[in-house]
Amino acid sequence: MCGIVAYTGDGRAVPYLLDGLARLEYRGYDSAGVAVHSGAGIDVVRRTGKLAALESAAELDALGGTTGIGHTRWATHGKPCDANAHPHVDAARRIALVHNGIIENHHELRAELEAGGVEFGSDTDTEVVAQLIGHLMARDPDLRLADAVRTAAKRLDGAFALAVIAVDDPDLVVGARRAAPLVAGTSGAAGLLASDIPAILAETRDVVVLDDDQVVEVRGPDLVVTDIDGEVVEARRTHITWDLEAAEKGGYETFMLKEIHEQPRVLADTIGGRLDTDTGQLVLDELRTDEHGLKTVDKVFVVACGTSYHSGLVAKYAIEHWARIPVEIDVASEFRYRDPVLDAQTLVIGVSQSGETADTIAACRYAQELKAKVVAVTNVVDSTMAREADAVIYTHAGPEVSVAASKTFTCQIAALDLLALWLAQVRGTLYSSEVATLVDQMHRLPDQVAAVLADLTEVEAEAAVWKDAADAFYLGRGPAFPTALEGALKMKEISYLHAEAYPSGELKHGPLALIDDDVPVVSVVTASKVHAKTLSNVAEVAARGGRIVLVANPGTDFGGIEPDRVFEVPETHELFAPVVDSVVLQVLAYYVATARGCNVDKPRNLAKTVTVE
Ligand code: G6P
Repeated sequence: MCGIVAYTGDGRAVPYLLDGLARLEYRGYDSAGVAVHSGAGIDVVRRTGKLAALESAAELDALGGTTGIGHTRWATHGKPCDANAHPHVDAARRIALVHNGIIENHHELRAELEAGGVEFGSDTDTEVVAQLIGHLMARDPDLRLADAVRTAAKRLDGAFALAVIAVDDPDLVVGARRAAPLVAGTSGAAGLLASDIPAILAETRDVVVLDDDQVVEVRGPDLVVTDIDGEVVEARRTHITWDLEAAEKGGYETFMLKEIHEQPRVLADTIGGRLDTDTGQLVLDELRTDEHGLKTVDKVFVVACGTSYHSGLVAKYAIEHWARIPVEIDVASEFRYRDPVLDAQTLVIGVSQSGETADTIAACRYAQELKAKVVAVTNVVDSTMAREADAVIYTHAGPEVSVAASKTFTCQIAALDLLALWLAQVRGTLYSSEVATLVDQMHRLPDQVAAVLADLTEVEAEAAVWKDAADAFYLGRGPAFPTALEGALKMKEISYLHAEAYPSGELKHGPLALIDDDVPVVSVVTASKVHAKTLSNVAEVAARGGRIVLVANPGTDFGGIEPDRVFEVPETHELFAPVVDSVVLQVLAYYVATARGCNVDKPRNLAKTVTVE
């Protein structure tokens, strides 16, 4: 996730760009940059690190132009460094461009452009778009920038919000979007573009929200919106009444609620572009089979803390089931003190949203000392774990501000499911066609999560019942057990309600003594091979009078159990179900926490990233 901003008007562009970027820094802070039209050419200033590094760049003083674009980056392709920072220019510096999103076919386009003699200066997917537009304009000197952008956009697969300026049209900014947000607005003699409303809210409250495959031409206060074929379309105009703080949360009350609702999009970013349509193979570029010897590992360890540990548990089920490799999972703080047995044939998967959790880093280092191979699954490009691991799979969840993880958890599960399927493919425990069918099923997850988020009335009603509860239990079997664990952890973290999770069959071995009429018990009973057994366990609770809340697929026969509440969620494969099922439990925790008046984004005693052992 990155932030883009653009200005064209009668004032100096740089202050507007920097102000807009400051409002977008929550979208990424690996590097920042601006490109400004000087009248004679385009000047670019970029800096690695937070926006402050760019703000203090002396070169900015020389940029007096009144048309420019700016970017704050959350690295996805290519590590954070000046060369990979945006804006990117084409080889002839005809145009400069900023981008938010992921271009899935960037390899193919890069190869095509390189074959035509274009030389690249960065590792990014974004530069491919800049070079493509520049190349089109070089081939046809009469081509207007907006036409070149439209032609290029038709060649792109994936998600993009773009802002582009051109040397030969000093007062114009062209924006385009597909599956990444882009808004436009005008203020006096100026026109502005940005990824998000807060970046332009100081200038205007009347914004145009671009739809997918629309292109906007901004020339001072004139905004012309077209479709991808150049037909003028009616712009979708909105008047913003929120204040700035609310706007940064995208209109949501808290960052956590916003991040919960971002899940359909970020899951699509994490899962997308992994299936090679020519070969039908699952592609994880990040893992090079030969180099890392992943074909021959005979044992896997997963090490992680907190929420990441719970996604790691799903990985255990997935890797054992699909790739048939034994998997152990450890809380990272325990791992190296228990003398685990590992060697050069062992794969250690370190899972960490931040990539900076001290215990997980230490566990991975210990594994490397014992010659094991380490793959990091993390959300933060160039984090310590990402740098030190033998290979990295990134989740593309974007920055997560709320202390309690939500979108990064479901993206971790998606990334780990992909890893499990990839291992199965390279080791031959599944046919490629079976892998492709499963990946296809994964492609439906974003829509299934969106369906859950579209109607939360039952969850909200249930939260009102839980408001004064003292204890709650969460049950699940197989891959639904990690869902239960994460559901209980969310509840504890943000609502301070005591919640515990058990494998469904284990409750009767002790904790059942705690069940009475006042205790809510959530059971995850979505489709699985142990579905009938899970329902028998629910019946054991029902017989003791607990409040029965079920997470279930529509049309489920509960076999005589009369639940107090059912949260219906779409059906998927049981190893993908934690992605869909967890969302409803995140929202339950959220509503209980708000009903209890808790500070959801900053729970007491907790930190987002724990860098001490
Ligand atoms: C802290 C956070 C948790 C997180 C855990 C692991 O305890 O509060 O939400 O799950 O660290 O963090 P990581 O960045 O390694 O996933």
